[in-house]
Amino acid sequence: MALRAEFAESQPLAGARIAGSLHMTVQTAVLIETLVALGAQVRWASCNIFSTQDDAAAAIAVGPTGTPEAPTGIPVFAWKGETLDEYWWCTEQIFEWSAEAAAAGETWVGPNMILDDGGDASMLVHKGREFERAGAVPSATTTDSLEYRVVLDQLRRSLDLSPDRWTRIAADIIGVTEETTTGVHRLYELAASGELVFPAINVNDSVTKSKFDNTYGIRHSLPDGLNRATDVLISGKVAFVCGYGDVGKGAAEALRGQGARVIVSEIDPINALQAAMDGFQVARLESVIEQVDILVSGTGNSTVITVEHMLRMKHLAIVGNVGHFDNEIDMAGLDALPGAVKIEIKPQVHEWRLPTGRSILVLSEGRLMNLGNATGHPSFVMSSSFTNQVLAQIELYCSPQKYPVGVSVLPKHLDEKVARLHLDALGVELTVLTPEQSAYIGVPIEGPYKAEHYRY
Ligand code: NAI
Repeated sequence: MALRAEFAESQPLAGARIAGSLHMTVQTAVLIETLVALGAQVRWASCNIFSTQDDAAAAIAVGPTGTPEAPTGIPVFAWKGETLDEYWWCTEQIFEWSAEAAAAGETWVGPNMILDDGGDASMLVHKGREFERAGAVPSATTTDSLEYRVVLDQLRRSLDLSPDRWTRIAADIIGVTEETTTGVHRLYELAASGELVFPAINVNDSVTKSKFDNTYGIRHSLPDGLNRATDVLISGKVAFVCGYGDVGKGAAEALRGQGARVIVSEIDPINALQAAMDGFQVARLESVIEQVDILVSGTGNSTVITVEHMLRMKHLAIVGNVGHFDNEIDMAGLDALPGAVKIEIKPQVHEWRLPTGRSILVLSEGRLMNLGNATGHPSFVMSSSFTNQVLAQIELYCSPQKYPVGVSVLPKHLDEKVARLHLDALGVELTVLTPEQSAYIGVPIEGPYKAEHYRY
C-alpha cells in the first residue's frame, strides 16, 4: 500500500508486460493489483499445482467491475488441483499475449518482464529458446522425471506451431525477479554455465525476504498445514526437520513451540552447530526414523526422504514437504513400490498402506504442504516479500543499465526501506543515530547501516 501511494502517480511500470508465475493466493492478488496500479500489464499463473486459492484467482480474473460472464480483470491461469499437463499449459499462457497485441493493434507482443517463484517460467523460456536453436526438442531420457516429459511434450507442440516463438520472447525479456531459494539456485547455475539469457534479481536474498518469509512465514504456515490436514496434537510427538536453513529454522521452532520433541538433520556443519546450540538434537534421519511421528523436509534438495525411510516409519506417521519441489520426498519411488496402496482421506491428504502392514500419511502428494494443506504464509510477512518484488520489478524495468546479464540482489538501501515501511504497523520505535555516533561507527544517519558481508 505504501508503494502504491509512492508510485501511483509516476507509473514506473507503465509499458511493463509482466509474465507472473507465483502461488495464486490472496496475498499474490494484492501484489498483482499493486503491479497494475503502478502501470503494468500482467498475465499470471500459479507456480504449484495445489497452491491456488480459487476465490483469489476468480477475484483477479473477474476484476472490480466485471462479472464471471463478462470479466474485466487480469488474465489468470490457475486453479487448485491442476494436473501436470494443465500446470504447464497455464505457465505457457503467461507468455501468450496475442489478445493484448490485438487490443494494441500490433501483430505480435510478448512479455518484457518475468516475475517468477521457483524458476519454472524462466526455465520454460530458456528451454524453448535452446530447443529452437537446436531445431528440435530432444526425446526424453529414462532418467527424466514425469514432469520434465510433460515440459518436453509441450515445447514440442509449441515448436510445431512456431519455430522462433521462445527466441522472440527471450529477446524481449528485460529481466526476471525471482522469489525463492530454489529458483535463485537455478538462476545462479544458468549464469555459471553461461546459459542465462537475461538479467535476474534475486529477491529471495533480500534480508527482508529470506530472513522473514522463509523463517517467520513457515513458523506460521507449517503448523497451519499440519492442523488443517490432520488436526493431530503436535504436543509430545517426535518431529523431525530435514534442513536447518531459513525455512528449517522456522519449522523446527514452530514444532518445538507446539511441544514436540524436535530432531534436525543437516549436511552443513555450520547449520548443524546452529541447530545444536539452539537446543535441537541433530541426527541423521536413518538413525532415528523409527521414533518419528511428524517428518518435514525443507532443504530444497532432492530425495532427502527415501522409500527406505518411509518403510521404517511408525504406523500413521505424517510426512510433509515445505521445500519448493516434491522430489525432496521420493514420491516416484513410493508410487512404484510393489504392494503400496494410496487411499485419499481428503484432497491433499493420502494414506499410503505399505507392504510392511503400516501406513503413513503423505500431505499434498509431497508438494509444499503449507500451501497445499493451508493457505501459505500470512499477509504481513508476504507484504515484506512482495514489497521487495515490486521494488525489484521497478529497478529492473526502469534501470536495466544497472543490471547486466547475471544474478543481482537489491541494493541494501531498498532492503532497509522494505523493513522501514513495516515498522509502524508493529509499533516499532526506531532509535536514530546521533551525529557523533554516526561519525564514530562510520555509518550514515539515514543508512545503509550494515556492510554487504553482515549476516543478520
Ligand atoms: P537454505 O539454503 O537456507 O536451507 C536449506 C538447508 O538444507 C541448508 O542449510 C542445507 O545445508 C540443508 N540441506 C541440503 N541438503 C540436505 C540434506 N540432504 N539433509 C539435510 N539438510 C540438507 O534454503 P531455505 O531458504 O531454507 O529454502 C529451503 C527450501 O524451501 C527451498 O526449496 C525454498 O525454495 C523453499 N521455500 C519454501 C517456502 C514455503 O512457503 N514452503 C518459503 C521459502 C522457501
